Formats: sequence, structure tokens, C-alpha cells
Amino acid sequence: MRKLENLLVTGGAGFIGSHFVHRLFSSKSFSGRVVVYDLLTYAGNLSNLAVLEKSYGRTRFFFEQGDICDTLHLERVFKVYDIDTVINFAAETHVDSAISDPGRFVKTNITGTFTLLEAAKTFWKERTDVLFHQISTDEVFGSLGQRGKFSEESPYNPRNPYAATKAAADNLASSFFHTYGLPLTISYSSNNYGPNQHEEKMIPSMIQRMLDGRPLPLYGDGLQVREWLFAGDHAEAVWVILQKGRVGERYAVGSGMEYRNLDLLQLLCCMTADEAGLSKKQLLSRLVFVKDRKGHDQRYALNTEKIRKELGWSPRTPVDEGLRKTILWYLDRSKSS
Ligand SMILES: NC(=O)c1ccc[n+]([C@@H]2O[C@H](COP(=O)([O-])OP(=O)(O)OC[C@H]3O[C@@H](n4cnc5c(N)ncnc54)[C@H](O)[C@@H]3O)[C@@H](O)[C@H]2O)c1
Repeated sequence: MRKLENLLVTGGAGFIGSHFVHRLFSSKSFSGRVVVYDLLTYAGNLSNLAVLEKSYGRTRFFFEQGDICDTLHLERVFKVYDIDTVINFAAETHVDSAISDPGRFVKTNITGTFTLLEAAKTFWKERTDVLFHQISTDEVFGSLGQRGKFSEESPYNPRNPYAATKAAADNLASSFFHTYGLPLTISYSSNNYGPNQHEEKMIPSMIQRMLDGRPLPLYGDGLQVREWLFAGDHAEAVWVILQKGRVGERYAVGSGMEYRNLDLLQLLCCMTADEAGLSKKQLLSRLVFVKDRKGHDQRYALNTEKIRKELGWSPRTPVDEGLRKTILWYLDRSKSS
């Protein structure tokens, strides 16, 4: 039986990690403690967790500012909080930055995950009531043509430095399961969207540009296809895996909602125009095609039959509802800043 009492959420002040921590505290089936361990890089933001700090601070919610590459700090955290579950969201995540500065990605995504795995192995020894959950991405599988989907069985074929470091981290995690028996699960998710996402990423960046009257740049021909998952649905999937996922197994987490970047941007223009009282025609006229990203993958899509059938998870948020929530959140933030 898994303990699930003292959870270490690395990268919990970031986009998806913060959705996951909120999901935990809204769950009647979770009564344990959460330690968010986050370096607070440019991508981390404590205000994503402020409400939880206020309600549960120092009773069930704890924050530790730290680097997942810092062995001593991690060892202390495992001991002080008696950690029995790790969910590793911490990573460098922006593909454009990985192309210009891959070294940072190697350090955090590979060395950091390795250091965290070592700390868990050292502290847990042979325990079986514990779990290390590695958050991965569909990008480790590479790029698809117009048809087909990746599944948990697909071979890894990463094609940019971000994806390559995430693939290396998964391989290390998997090796700790096979070699040392570290109880482990891995999940691959498709592109996430929702409140709290950093403005460097496509959807928040486009919303902000629409509000500021700036051009809306699209890479290449804009025909690359991505599958969009609301971050709250991803958070739910991770919670389900922690409770019911089988040790050593991998789970693909996606929505099935595939959009070409161009179509998504046009939809976003129309919805943002409605919510912000702007002209659709004017927003659409600001769309510009720019030089393609190096190594830009054409299409990602996931077959999510396994998590649906085995664990009973399915996404709940339709894209129009999720996008509306997201747009309203950025509008609110922009008004209050
Ligand atoms: N955003 C997506 O669409 C998406 C899709 C699939 C998988 N993922 C994966 O989900 C995870 C979370 O992604 P996100 O979009 O929320 O990322 P994010 O960039 O918003 O947040 C990353 C968090 O990690 C923290 N961090 C970075 N380096 C650290 C270090 N060395 N030590 C401790 N903390 C550190 C940052 O401060 C930040 O809070 C990542 O592992 C990412 O690969 C993301």
C-alpha cells in the first residue's frame, strides 16, 4: 500500500506543478503534507501558491527554495519531512531556450533528475510503500506524420535538446527502477495550457500580444500540429497515477484535441476579441509568419487508451471552456498589473 502522506513536489511553483498542488488540496482523498521544492528560476512564481500558503502554510503546505542538483539540501528535505512520494515537475522547459542554451537543460533536466533519484534511493532503501513519479513529455518520441499516434510503447526519438534531456531523465529514472527496484511511474503529456503559464509559451504570449497591440508571430507555415491538454486535467491524471498507477508503468496523458498552430491562433484571436472587446478582424490581421524554429517537430499526438482503461482517467475540459478560462485569467492579471 502506498503511503502518499508526505509528498515532495519539485517545480511546484511553476505552471503545471502549481496546478497539481492545488489539485491535491482540493481532494477529499488527500489529507497529507506537501513540500514544494523549487529553485524559483524565472519560470517559478510563488504567487501561484499564495492561497495555499495562507490556508495550509506550516501545517500541511511547506515551501523549500532549492535546486534539484543540490544533494545535501535534498537529503535534508527527505529526512525532515519524511518524504514518501516524489513528483518531479522541475525542469527547464522552453524549447527555444534549449536551442540557444542547451547546457542549462542538461544540468537541470538530466543531472537534477539523477540527483533526485539518488536522494530517493538513499532515503527509501528497499521500501515499497513509496513512489517516484517522473513527469515527461510527448516530445521524447519525436515527430509524427499526418497519421498515427505515439503510445507508451513508442521508441524514443528526441529531436531538440529539451526533448533529448527529458528522454535522458526518463531513461535514468527507468534504470533506477530496473537496477535498484526504486518504485517508479512515468507520465508523458501533450502540450498543456491554462492559467499560471509563463508568458514565453505560445498561448500566454499570444494573448498578451493581442492585448498589447503587437504582431502575432507564427513559426514557419503554422501548420505544425499539437494536442492541447488543460493543465487541471493533467494534474488530475498525475493524482490518479499516484493512487492507482502500477509500479514500473508509463502512462500517456493527452486530450485528443489536435490543432494546427495556425487554427489554434485564429480561434484564440476570436475568443480573446470576444472576451476583451477587441476587433476580431484587427487581431487576425496582426498574424505574421516568421522563420521556422530549428528542428521544429511537425506533429505530436498521444494514444491515451491505457490510462483511460486501466486507471479510469479522462480529460474533462473541452478546449473552448479551457481557453476561455485561460483568456479570462490573463485578462484579469493584465488589468491588475
Ligand atoms: N508545459 C507543457 O506543455 C508540458 C508538456 C509536457 C510535459 N511537461 C513537463 O512538465 C513539467 C513542468 O512543466 P511546466 O510547463 O510547468 O514548466 P515551468 O517552466 O512552468 O516550471 C518549471 C518549474 O521548475 C522550477 N525549476 C527549474 N529548474 C529547477 C531546479 N534546478 N531545481 C528546482 N526547481 C527548478 C522552476 O522554478 C519552475 O517553477 C516539466 O518537467 C515539463 O517537461 C510540460
